[in-house]
Amino acid sequence: MFKKLVEKNRSIRIFDESVELSQEDFLELVDLARLSPAGRNQLSFRFYLVKGEDLKKIYSMLHWAGAIPEWEGPKPGERPGSVILVITEDNTLSPLNAINMGIGIQSMMLGACEKGFGGCIIRAIDHTEIKKVLN
Ligand SMILES: Cc1cc2nc3c(=O)[nH]c(=O)nc-3n(C[C@H](O)[C@H](O)[C@H](O)COP(=O)(O)O)c2cc1C
Repeated sequence: MFKKLVEKNRSIRIFDESVELSQEDFLELVDLARLSPAGRNQLSFRFYLVKGEDLKKIYSMLHWAGAIPEWEGPKPGERPGSVILVITEDNTLSPLNAINMGIGIQSMMLGACEKGFGGCIIRAIDHTEIKKVLN
């Protein structure tokens, strides 16, 4: 039942860090974004799977639960084992692109949840730093 999947798909912020997304699962999730509706059919995004050493480099550039400032975020061992970066060349992110991105990401979140993964959409990231570090 679709409602059950939506209910189950909460924003998870404590993980089993040893769990990584395989390339196959990653591509299946990207496909869900690709199949999602988009205004003007404008799907001008790229997806980049980050794990291992690269993830360690950018980990401090992700910001968790801004509404709970006293919480420092997941501890070592409880951090995500993989992160999917959603990349666009539209630096100012037009409203249409933002809506399209949100719809695509939610499809990916629901797909990940169905596969048994937990995740969290994170907007509060240090874009410029991540770009620099991951080249
Ligand atoms: C566009 C968007 C941006 C978000 N950015 C962040 C973020 O930067 N950091 C974070 O910890 N959670 C972020 N979240 C997760 C929300 O905080 C979360 O969805 C909300 O608290 C409701 O919790 P729930 O998803 O478990 O129902 C974001 C969610 C959305 C949809």
